[in-house]
Amino acid sequence: MPNPEPASADTDDIAYFSEENSAEVVNARIDHAKANPRIAEVVEAMTRHLHAFVKEVEPTHEEWLAGIEFLTRTGHMCTQWRQEFILLSDVLGVSMLVDAINSRRPSGATENTILGPFYVMNPPNRKNGDTICLDGKGEPLVVRGRVTDTAGKPIPGARLDVWQTNDDGFYDVQQKDVQPDMNMRGVFAADRDGAYWFRSALPRYYPIPGDGPVGELLNALGRGINRAAHIHVILTAEGYDPVITHIFEPHCQYLRQDAVFGVKKSLIGDFRKTSDAAEAKKLGFDGPEFWEVEQDFVLTPATGRKAFIHQV
Ligand code: BEZ
Ligand code: FE
Repeated sequence: MPNPEPASADTDDIAYFSEENSAEVVNARIDHAKANPRIAEVVEAMTRHLHAFVKEVEPTHEEWLAGIEFLTRTGHMCTQWRQEFILLSDVLGVSMLVDAINSRRPSGATENTILGPFYVMNPPNRKNGDTICLDGKGEPLVVRGRVTDTAGKPIPGARLDVWQTNDDGFYDVQQKDVQPDMNMRGVFAADRDGAYWFRSALPRYYPIPGDGPVGELLNALGRGINRAAHIHVILTAEGYDPVITHIFEPHCQYLRQDAVFGVKKSLIGDFRKTSDAAEAKKLGFDGPEFWEVEQDFVLTPATGRKAFIHQV
């Protein structure tokens, strides 16, 4: 067999690893004739950024191992019920960034925000005016509004899938034997004028799961673990793009410190406290005082994009 050609100096530059050309050497191993083009594109970019990050941080071996151990613990924390990697993505702002890139809309349209891990499939259908607050806890609240297109035309039949924590700051699925099943959840349909309304309880801030590596990380950074008080809403309607969003409570002390960066100004509701014994009685509330919020939703024509709903 003839001897292989001696490598030229040029080829040697990307054949052997050095601190200077590290990312280039790794990426040069990809065989573009065989590679999946999108995976190659993603891994090339990841390698470039990861090597730049390591060059900036210059970790010691011990720090590198601490990072590996952190990711290992993050993986071990994941179960059928808990996705610590998504939580990590959430607190690093990556979930919101991916969502922003994938839900660009014209101004005036309702903005998306984070889905979170507490959505459940097949929530109960309810009628306009029903309450989702099955445990009767918290300060009574009426939520009203309209669902329209960007020209203000009502969208009858638009579906609003809503969920929130109870007044103790837990979702029903976090307290299976404590809260009634499907407490603080329900699906409402907009009427012929695009109007919807339901009763609930004033949302409260609550902590994201903080007993794992993500909680430790936030603690090490002096960051909080609370989510600003909110009601989740998924809007769907035939012929329109789905919207995964929240209504935020404006008085919440965590609006500017939401642990997962979910707050957008346009999603902060105008919650008002009302004292009207007759109206409260009509609404089925015990005392004369209740909260009201009117939140309209604006949908955009379908682009074929599906709501990205995952359950862990
Ligand atoms: C939530 O709003 O339910 C949520 C979002 C992200 C992480 C944890 C909880
Ligand atoms: Fe939530």
